[in-house]
Amino acid sequence: MAINIFEPYQLKSINFNNRIIRSATDEGLADSEGDPSQDLLKMYKKLANGHVGAIITGFISVSKDGKSVMPGMMMIDSDDRIAGHASMVEEIHKENCSIIAQLAHCGRSGVGGKKCQIERLSLEHIKDIEKDFINAAIRAYKAGYDAVELHLAHGYLLSEFLSPHTNKRKDMYGGSLEARLKLILDIIFGIREQIPAYPILVKINGSEDYPDGIDSELASQNALALEKAGVDAIEVSCGIDWNSMGPSRGKIPVDMLLAHYPQLKTKPKFIKKLIRPNLAGLMKEVEATSSYNLASAVRIKEAVKIPLILVGGLHSLEDFESAINEHGMDMVAASRPFIIEPNFVEKLESGVASKSRCIECNNCLAGLYDRSLRCYYGKVF
Ligand SMILES: Cc1cc2nc3c(=O)[nH]c(=O)nc-3n(C[C@H](O)[C@H](O)[C@H](O)COP(=O)(O)O)c2cc1C
Repeated sequence: MAINIFEPYQLKSINFNNRIIRSATDEGLADSEGDPSQDLLKMYKKLANGHVGAIITGFISVSKDGKSVMPGMMMIDSDDRIAGHASMVEEIHKENCSIIAQLAHCGRSGVGGKKCQIERLSLEHIKDIEKDFINAAIRAYKAGYDAVELHLAHGYLLSEFLSPHTNKRKDMYGGSLEARLKLILDIIFGIREQIPAYPILVKINGSEDYPDGIDSELASQNALALEKAGVDAIEVSCGIDWNSMGPSRGKIPVDMLLAHYPQLKTKPKFIKKLIRPNLAGLMKEVEATSSYNLASAVRIKEAVKIPLILVGGLHSLEDFESAINEHGMDMVAASRPFIIEPNFVEKLESGVASKSRCIECNNCLAGLYDRSLRCYYGKVF
């Protein structure tokens, strides 16, 4: 019998109101210290009131070095941050919505810059990063988050360890599948040792933009190892960097980047005009088909038994239902549809809408370079 995607779903201790999750989306709304703000709480309340299955927070940095260069990233790098997270989580729980903390280290693209490049990390530094993730998960647990999701996708630091395209290390952390997984599995074992029953989700790349990167076969092997290590669910995404819009396919927001990217926005108009064609040429636009990670997720599903969450271009009721009822996915997730319509699930459920109004302009992403999250609907301002 077909699954009703609007009915509640239980995964260990996590209650999902339905099978449609808000995928992690950087809101850029932490306060100047990196703690959750009232504006962030407001955004999450809108999602909760709009019947989302659960919220995965925007990425939260586990350490000072791991912070994004984009402003307003949340931090969970010290115990004195627990109270701020706890009061936000409590408010979201009052709205009967589960909330999952996405933990990340931005690696080379974070404020740590060169010293956080995978090839430059000393063994001591890697051990520190391992501890940072474990401690961050314990803090998320103490703050009341329903689970953590480790960000192993999109070219951030842990994703760099996992991918043969970026991991060229010749020590115990590179050179084989086991070695590339070592840091991640050590983190998972470390969390399990301290808080055994706490649900751990991971977001992985099912495919990458490079011939020597992760493909669905390698992603399946990674997924199997993660399952064996005790991970509770896997969200399948894709992409390493901006070249092809990474995980969020669609238009390359060239004009928006010229207006907001730190090294570009201050350039005089005539320089921007000169740069524009080159910038557009540097990035290859990948057609935004619907459910573009489905094929890799289906392959991963053959390898593991734990629940899979599919994300990437699922922007309609049909996409959601087909992923679950025709392709065996357990849950579905979306990001951009919730930026333009925080009550997207409610609209689908009530029949007011059957697809997202998102036009995949990706201006929301480029805007994050100097301001908080919003929908631009193709406009540049
Ligand atoms: C503005 C914006 C911010 C994002 N921030 C994150 C993030 O913090 N962590 C993450 O794993 N993915 C992030 N993503 C990627 C989304 O979670 C998602 O994987 C991707 O956009 C594809 O899903 P969609 O087609 O539903 O947007 C972000 C995407 C957008 C558009």
